[in-house]
Amino acid sequence: MDVPGIREDFPCLHKEINGKLPIYLDTACTALRPKQVIDAMNEYYTEFPACGGRSVHKFGTEVTIRCDESRDQLQRLLNAERPEEIIFLKNTTEGINLLSHTLGLKKGDIVLTGDKEHNSNLVPWQVLTTRAGTKHQIFKSNDDGSFSMENLKEKLSPDVKLISIAEVSNLDGSTVPAKDLIEVAHDNGSLVLFDGAQSVPHRKMDVQELDLDFLCFSIHKMCGPSGMGVLYGKYDLLDGLDTFLVGGSSVADTTYDDYKLLRPPQKFEAGLQNFAGIIGTCAAVEYLMNIGMEEIHEYEKSLNRIATDLLSNIPGLTILGPGAAYRGGITAFIIDGMEPHDVAMILDEVANVMIRSGMHCNNSWFNDHGIRGSSRASFYIYNTEDEVRIFAEELEKIVQEFR
Ligand code: ALA
Repeated sequence: MDVPGIREDFPCLHKEINGKLPIYLDTACTALRPKQVIDAMNEYYTEFPACGGRSVHKFGTEVTIRCDESRDQLQRLLNAERPEEIIFLKNTTEGINLLSHTLGLKKGDIVLTGDKEHNSNLVPWQVLTTRAGTKHQIFKSNDDGSFSMENLKEKLSPDVKLISIAEVSNLDGSTVPAKDLIEVAHDNGSLVLFDGAQSVPHRKMDVQELDLDFLCFSIHKMCGPSGMGVLYGKYDLLDGLDTFLVGGSSVADTTYDDYKLLRPPQKFEAGLQNFAGIIGTCAAVEYLMNIGMEEIHEYEKSLNRIATDLLSNIPGLTILGPGAAYRGGITAFIIDGMEPHDVAMILDEVANVMIRSGMHCNNSWFNDHGIRGSSRASFYIYNTEDEVRIFAEELEKIVQEFR
């Protein structure tokens, strides 16, 4: 992977702050954007800033073509069967909410999630219990944070209609065995939804090979614009869902008394869309695919191995989750006697090293474990081995001085 070449594409990496370059290790929160994405969005606003899917003039037609290209690009990224299986939304959260409203789950149906879900894959199912009388159950991970097939199987029953789980955890990077999990779920008659916010940007995804039913992810975590997300679903499943947001562009026709809905994806894309975002999404996906999703995954793991080795020598520091090989590009840690926010603030202050701290929207797991939060470094295509070493050295100095 040509990391120096990749770094050239990211303008913010070359602007010194207080005499030092930034070291950005917070991609699990949001990724940096390359100039190709910024240019694609600027091109929309400067060259053809019109409405797609409606107006027949030249600007409008260009937007429609670009949006179709973006959907096709995402189809290729996921190896979806048809572009109509790609729904443009705001983010992962909207995708999960859409499904919680439209799957038609009813009283007594069980939604099973893991024990380390982001609030976005927890609260919609908790709310559904009050709205529709469904039940929400959790299966626990192993003690080291890895996925437990045994614990999942123990929870299965004919009432489990959906298993909704983060493919890669934003809390500790641990990863589920996707194919095995989906097979077990389907044998039980359950659908599977992957929260792919931390997986799709970082590894190869093949929804047909996995036989995955639904997948949600956010484009801002994969070098694309904020405010863009994707819901993938098998076409027949999407076609059978109830409606969520409705209005302009989601209907074929209306009268004063009635309406005729369009089929997916339009059925779920009511209202004027984020055209600059959709066009920027295409550029981001193209950018990552040109590098290669498998290469990206291997590179992140190599950085994580270095980080894990170096951090393991720091007194009082515990890394959350299983070994480096199973945590993608995420290293989350706690340090005895230090607050996670203090660690993150001091690293930023003294070395421009940007990590995240807190509960990372996984309050339920932290509350269950009686831990106030963690610090988390996450690595991506633009990070270097040198950056990882500087991060570890600075962290060690901070621990020596402040702990
Ligand atoms: N879910 C994002 C994170 O883990 C925001 O940082």
